[in-house]
Amino acid sequence: MPQPAARQARRLTQESGRLIAALAAATEDQIVFDLPGIEERYDTLRRELPGVAVRFAMKACPVDEVLARLAARGCGADAASPREVEQALDAGFPVTEMHYGNTVKSDENIAAAHRLGITDFATDSLEDVTAIAEHAPGARVFCRLATTGEGALWGLSNKYGCPPADAVAILERARDLGLTPAGLSVHVGSQQMTADAWRSAFDGIADTLEALHRRGIHLDHVNLGGGLPALGYRDKHGRALDPPMDKIFTVIREGMARLRDIPGHRLGFVVEPGRYLIADQGAIRAHVSRLSARRGPDGERQYWLYLSCGKFNGLYEMDEVQYRLVFPSHRDAESVPAVVAGPTCDSDDAFSHEHGLVPVPKALASGDPVWVMSCGAYATSYMTQGFNGFSPLPYTWTDGGDT
Ligand SMILES: Cc1ncc(COP(=O)(O)O)c(C=O)c1O
Repeated sequence: MPQPAARQARRLTQESGRLIAALAAATEDQIVFDLPGIEERYDTLRRELPGVAVRFAMKACPVDEVLARLAARGCGADAASPREVEQALDAGFPVTEMHYGNTVKSDENIAAAHRLGITDFATDSLEDVTAIAEHAPGARVFCRLATTGEGALWGLSNKYGCPPADAVAILERARDLGLTPAGLSVHVGSQQMTADAWRSAFDGIADTLEALHRRGIHLDHVNLGGGLPALGYRDKHGRALDPPMDKIFTVIREGMARLRDIPGHRLGFVVEPGRYLIADQGAIRAHVSRLSARRGPDGERQYWLYLSCGKFNGLYEMDEVQYRLVFPSHRDAESVPAVVAGPTCDSDDAFSHEHGLVPVPKALASGDPVWVMSCGAYATSYMTQGFNGFSPLPYTWTDGGDT
């Protein structure tokens, strides 16, 4: 049974009763993952994109219990290092449902992944594909096309990917070196808020597939990457982000149909969601360090709410989004607008304070609990090992009970 605080919070949030009940029951700081909620998101994705293989981008939540649940559900894994491959194997993902999705890798990384049984590698340069041929002979490669990242909160444009003409040259080189040129991939940028980004990604993929066909290269899959958005974020100004999910899925389905019609390839499709599966299914139980009011350089009094978690222990992405905060011990209380910040002695450890202030209960006292919602994705990955002596948050999970 949820506690009274949980029942009240549930009216205000879209999270499952399970997650709310687990937060309400927690007496110490921790990050909680709702495992059935993650499974439900996975099932939704499978329904929205029928026939598409889902490979979880492990970096979004390298938590064994989460990985094991996804593996048991039939999900595959997008691993980005030999250590992630090992972790995925331990969690139960069959190696045949995994690929090495990182275009950045050393010779040793390639050889180690190959020894672990990985057969499919992402690539985006002649240097990398040459190294794959040497250290993972006979492997299958898929070439990542660059995207602009426009429309995403985190565009990933510069570090990875190549233009279509280079992808053709790289896959030709792969073939010449005895590799199997197997696919193309894209990533439209993380928390992609527009369907148009997928539309232009499909344009680029289509052009490349046509060029490859002319060169006698026939692929067997397209990897549509990550980028599917979380639903529970707020922007820097505190406004709810409302991604057009129906439109995004429609554009993806239409895009896949279009690619299937391009001659010369028999295409299967892969997606590599991270944020979409995890963000809304994870929340932090933290506590109030202090609510203070200080006069700034302009003489104006400004409230600051310092929490026990911040940029360096769970909320690394606070530069770009505001997380919804719930104060379970101060319902319907008088509020004041505050800058929300983390506990460290570092000025970067704060919500972007030139943007929106957050209404917080005026009566907050040190030690009061606070729930930070929709912060599950990347939270455990982006966790420092004791910045200013603040430990990484422990994690836990909820597995059922009240829904
Ligand atoms: C290759 C690759 N695939 C998938 C993802 C997951 O992206 P998202 O969390 O936006 O779904 C990432 C994230 O950085 C990535 O680098």
